[in-house]
Amino acid sequence: MADFDPVTKAVVPAAGLGTRFLPATKATPKEMLPIVDKPAIQYVVEEAASAGLLDVLMVTGKNKRSIEDHFDRAFELEEALEAKGDEHRLSQVREPASLATLHYVRQGEPKGLGHAVLCAKHHVGDHPFACLLGDDLIDHRDHLLRRMIEVRNTFGGSVIALMEVPKESVSLYGVATIEPTDEEDVVRVTDLVEKPPADEAPSNWAIIGRYVIDPTVFEVLEQTPPGRGGEIQLTDALRTLAARGPEEGGPVHGVLFRGRRYDTGDKLDYLRTVVKFAADRQDLAPEFVPWLREFLDEIS
Ligand code: G1P
Repeated sequence: MADFDPVTKAVVPAAGLGTRFLPATKATPKEMLPIVDKPAIQYVVEEAASAGLLDVLMVTGKNKRSIEDHFDRAFELEEALEAKGDEHRLSQVREPASLATLHYVRQGEPKGLGHAVLCAKHHVGDHPFACLLGDDLIDHRDHLLRRMIEVRNTFGGSVIALMEVPKESVSLYGVATIEPTDEEDVVRVTDLVEKPPADEAPSNWAIIGRYVIDPTVFEVLEQTPPGRGGEIQLTDALRTLAARGPEEGGPVHGVLFRGRRYDTGDKLDYLRTVVKFAADRQDLAPEFVPWLREFLDEIS
């Protein structure tokens, strides 16, 4: 195995306006919306930490306060729970602050995902890093990020996560042109296009929100003009890197993910995710699942 610089930092873009969830997101970042009883962003930080990435940079927008507070200690609340002897809730309240070291940088203007990643340049420096998008939750049993880091350690360059989606959905994603490698779940990415119309998509392999990125992406992003939607697209910068050799920051590989991904990007996906998570919880499922069955009978 070549001796590549290890991946130790994670970048989590969290500056979106959350317009699809208004009015809930008027004063609360969408990343703080709960999936059962934890904000979505906590699952993302847990995922980074369990892949060994204990340095997490959040790229925030306007409403960053509640995110910072969530990953900080809450002494008053802790004292109150301590006084009551409520050890269980006390550990739940303390947990977010103990997961990783959180850092924050602001994305002044909403100029797109590529621009959000560029805001991480100073913190990340000249090292490969992971990028995790909060709209996609990956089941903690599936270890996608760990596999992607392994692939980066074998091939260098950047690694994206790809999932097969139905043709009618490709226009919601970045889509990859791929070639097989000797490893069954790894492909070489030869081209990328952001949100193509279904009839122009080069494949059904969609980028999902996990990336391991070579630091050369920063200079590429600085030169990347606004693309789809007038925004600076990470997909466009990765496309440039996919065409390069190892000495210039390439190549790009893809890990084909066939595990459980939960989309929280819009209201319906969010509802599905909450129901799935609740049905998977040992403390809730015994009551929730039979109720859900009855309820479905009732309305059908
Ligand atoms: C972003 C990326 C897109 C990717 C998607 C995954 O789009 O630009 O390439 O497929 O995340 O969720 P967004 O969903 O933020 O519009």
